[in-house]
Amino acid sequence: MLELAEHILDIAENSVRAGARLIEINIAEDTANDSLSIEITDDGHGMKQEEINKVTDPFYTTKTVRRVGLGIPLLADAARITGGCFNLESQEGKGTTVKATFGLSHVDRQPMGNIISTLIVLIAGNSDVDFFYKYRHNDRQSEFDTRTIRKEIEDVPINHPEILKYIRGVLKEGFSEIKPEA
Ligand SMILES: Nc1ncnc2c1ncn2[C@@H]1O[C@H](COP(=O)(O)OP(=O)(O)O)[C@@H](O)[C@H]1O
Ligand SMILES: [Mg+2]
Repeated sequence: MLELAEHILDIAENSVRAGARLIEINIAEDTANDSLSIEITDDGHGMKQEEINKVTDPFYTTKTVRRVGLGIPLLADAARITGGCFNLESQEGKGTTVKATFGLSHVDRQPMGNIISTLIVLIAGNSDVDFFYKYRHNDRQSEFDTRTIRKEIEDVPINHPEILKYIRGVLKEGFSEIKPEA
């Protein structure tokens, strides 16, 4: 089974390909509402209306080689089968927001997977892009921002192995407190 972290990686990679300088990843779990939402916003080149209409088609891609099995249509389906919904908003020259909402306790809801490793992969592979990650579980929330890290490390590259190790530690510490059962 796919994991939500894999979808997040795929959607964020779309943002990277769109030339984004900043990618925001926002995850919110709300047990009272029985919902889990994932929102990814970028400041990349965006899409034309015509392209927006096409992207939920499972056979549409602007890549010449497509990895089979992921992409926007799969995330949209994964959300809808849990009674959730999917939304994509994009403005040419401004950026794109992809939002998927899942039924949190639905049996077919894919597990979160390793979101920390996913963030590390994104940061390590795209050292010139900033990532702002927000995670909320009911009324507890934590944030992580590579722009803050950059200020702390000054001239050291953010994808230096020691820095990545440090970031992993920061993420683990900051996000393990949010969800007591995780
Ligand atoms: N954040 C984005 N900004 C601009 N274009 C995007 C974005 N996300 C997706 N697209 C466009 O939609 C197409 C389909 O995306 P996707 O379903 O993930 O498939 P793939 O990435 O394999 O092409 C991409 O090839 C790209 O042209
Ligand atoms: Mg993609």
